[in-house]
Amino acid sequence: MNTNEAERQNQYMHRVYEINSIPSAKRYHISTFGCQLNENDSEKLEGMLVQMGYSKTENLEESNFIIYNTCCVRENAEQKVYGHLGRLKKLKEKNPELLIAMCGCMMQQKHVIEHIKRTYRHVDIIFGTHNLHKLPELLYTLLYNGEKVIDVWETDGVLTEGIPFERKKGVKAWLTVMYGCNNFCSYCIVPYVRGRERSRELDDILNEANKLSSQGFKEITLLGQNVNSYGKELEKKLSFAELLYRLNGIDGIERIRFMTSHPKDLSDELIDAIRLSAKVCEHLHLPVQAGSTKILKEMNRKYSKENYLELIDKVKNKIPGIALTTDIIVGFPGETEKDFEVTLDVMEKVRYDSAYTFLYSKRTGTPAALKQDQVPEIIKKERFNRLIQLQNTISKEINDTYVGQKVDVLVEGISKTNKDMLTGRTGTNKIVNFSGPAKLIYKTIKVHITNSQTWSLDGEFIS
Ligand code: SAH
Ligand code: SF4
Ligand code: F3S
Repeated sequence: MNTNEAERQNQYMHRVYEINSIPSAKRYHISTFGCQLNENDSEKLEGMLVQMGYSKTENLEESNFIIYNTCCVRENAEQKVYGHLGRLKKLKEKNPELLIAMCGCMMQQKHVIEHIKRTYRHVDIIFGTHNLHKLPELLYTLLYNGEKVIDVWETDGVLTEGIPFERKKGVKAWLTVMYGCNNFCSYCIVPYVRGRERSRELDDILNEANKLSSQGFKEITLLGQNVNSYGKELEKKLSFAELLYRLNGIDGIERIRFMTSHPKDLSDELIDAIRLSAKVCEHLHLPVQAGSTKILKEMNRKYSKENYLELIDKVKNKIPGIALTTDIIVGFPGETEKDFEVTLDVMEKVRYDSAYTFLYSKRTGTPAALKQDQVPEIIKKERFNRLIQLQNTISKEINDTYVGQKVDVLVEGISKTNKDMLTGRTGTNKIVNFSGPAKLIYKTIKVHITNSQTWSLDGEFIS
């Protein structure tokens, strides 16, 4: 484990704290785009900011330091960031003391940095995914020299342990177990901006999980682009299944979830670990991306429709009642109506509890972006709507089967849509809304399901 770097950054945190004359009055604002890995990275950035004397604000006007932790998985993610960034120009004119930093996946692309340098001169600090831990040093350099700082590493370095976290309050926490991806699906930018697979050491993960438990968190979600390859490159080799067994033994943690699993690496050992570890939830997110074997091959996914369906059968047989969710891309280059119908067929055969569906988005630097036979936007959208409609019908039918059942719900808090209701989730990750006293928050209780919706269940607390 590399904690030396954390100590070095710790010294910079003290220095920044000292430079900021009234540290307690400094406010930061952070916007995070993209996946849970980015969310977890932002919790690290926030941990460092708090150490440097900054406190959080949602209000841009009162911010001294604004950070955008960006995503580039689809074009609309990038457009959103540019939209926000453009609006900061005026704010910076009004308040020249305001500092603006950009980090995350978008910054790992050279053309993005060039574009920001040309068009958004009000940005002060740019850093990437591999040197996120350097925020204190970069901020110190900027405050000390008054010059813009750009520091993006092209290759991934040694993992830095020991950076403080400032986690969202609640009962659930993210825990990143590995970084990067080696799969190079032909549509995906992630391997280019997140580097190769690197797993954290077992002890570092166990220590963090124990700490989370002592802080009162009861559910942890293990994160990685493909958690199934966890541990393969560690000196002391360890499988993801073995990691689950070890985490299952931690007192105070009641639920363990994980994402994402690549179908090509879903081992029998892992299926057994889900089945046999009481705390590992009965839910598997297993992205299929497309149904047609021809398209799957073009996507470089390394499984066929038949392989995938066999795998699903195996999982369902070994873990009856398991909830299955997926990611699907519509309109990959060369996708014909027939290919798309195979995706619908897979959806119907698997009967997912829910699906994240995306319109294919061309990403510069990926092989699929060079393909000639791009699908017109209008066709993509039409297919997308059909896919969502089918999934909604299936989700509602599955949710209907919960009506009348008594389920275990880990209560997360007060419902966002109705302040008189509490909200929580089942082990199968279904949202359950019900009325009950506030003292139930963060407890696991029994709820009687009385009604079902497409995206959630309604119930009554059984005292
Ligand atoms: N590592 C995870 C997910 C990473 S990105 C996995 O393999 O499942 C999350 C999802 O974004 C992917 O599963 C995929 O469905 C989608 N995605 C990735 N690149 C995309 C692109 N170029 N266009 C549209 N969707 C994309
Ligand atoms: Fe992207 Fe494929 Fe890696 Fe997932 S497994 S991050 S989709 S390249
Ligand atoms: Fe986006 Fe980076 Fe995650 S590209 S999806 S934030 S790994």
